[in-house]
Amino acid sequence: MSHDSILERSGDLSQLVPGILISHEKDNIPLLIECEKNTNLSNRWRDYHQVIQKIITRYQRDIGAILFRGFKFIDDNDFYDFVKSFGLDLLRYEFGSTPRSHLGNGVYTSTEYPAHQVIPLHNEQAYTLSWPLNIWFHCVTAASRGGHTPIADSRLIYQHINRTIRERFEKKRLMYVRNYGNGLDIPWQQAFNTDDISVAQAYAKNNKIQLEWKEDGELRTRQLCQATAQHPLTNEWVWFNQAHLFHISNLNESVREMLLGCVDMQDLPRNVYYGDGSEIETSILDEIRGVIDEFTVSFPWQPGDVMLLDNMLVAHGRGTFEGERKVVVAMTEPFDSIAANGDSQNTTLEDTSPSLEYSA
Ligand SMILES: [Fe+2]
Repeated sequence: MSHDSILERSGDLSQLVPGILISHEKDNIPLLIECEKNTNLSNRWRDYHQVIQKIITRYQRDIGAILFRGFKFIDDNDFYDFVKSFGLDLLRYEFGSTPRSHLGNGVYTSTEYPAHQVIPLHNEQAYTLSWPLNIWFHCVTAASRGGHTPIADSRLIYQHINRTIRERFEKKRLMYVRNYGNGLDIPWQQAFNTDDISVAQAYAKNNKIQLEWKEDGELRTRQLCQATAQHPLTNEWVWFNQAHLFHISNLNESVREMLLGCVDMQDLPRNVYYGDGSEIETSILDEIRGVIDEFTVSFPWQPGDVMLLDNMLVAHGRGTFEGERKVVVAMTEPFDSIAANGDSQNTTLEDTSPSLEYSA
């Protein structure tokens, strides 16, 4: 369905549903669904539940991003009730890669990185082989300045990345290397949601994650993953990896030097190589970052906003901010690429030896 026909249809829907405004800029995201301020309904999202369900069913897998505004989402619990009301189970963060707090019932804080740091755009858990199809955000408190959750259409990123680069990534795929603990990254127990080594081992085996226990007792993992992916419901191809985040070139020079002053390349908290263990060129990652920037859309949060993203169709990030900011997250509809594709992706790691050198 083209965005034009969506506009025609959404116009019809607006007329059918008094009190709701639907706006969508051509070829842009998100679709904005706004409850009129002067409605006297006290419990707006529940009152409009049926129409919200219809809007999600019609547009989520097409536009990929829907922003609900003015529906009086009150707090974390109300957000949980909203997500749950569509009959979906909220997922746990399995094999997570960033610090965040579980607020209960599958509602998490967004990544707890300092306010001055930008989180580059990414699709949630694109650095592994299973991920949620939906990610939901709820702005409880908007920062006094900044703190946006910028988004970008991963289909457009896929289509606009230089074909030679895309084919190289698709052919070689990516090997993510992670080192846990040592005060530099989250402990393995947090990543695997367990203190029990056998549970972590079983998870790793099922997900083709190679475990390596180091002499100091800490863990290193390697996993071979996709660079692009085909959406299981729309069949569209999307750019789907976190190479530009995991690569050491994502760190600013002072942090990079500080880290390399503490540990060897192979012990960095996170890094990524081509699937054959060879180094990914920084210039190529910069080109990829440029394409992502080109399609990035940013808007200020309003307290009470809820945004639903198709996690494969749309990437998200976080801008710097000032003041207090609380944005919580939930994920639904797990997708397991190993179960879906069998081993046609051949995600079993060969004996790879990552390059140990880095040149900026
Ligand atoms: Fe994220």
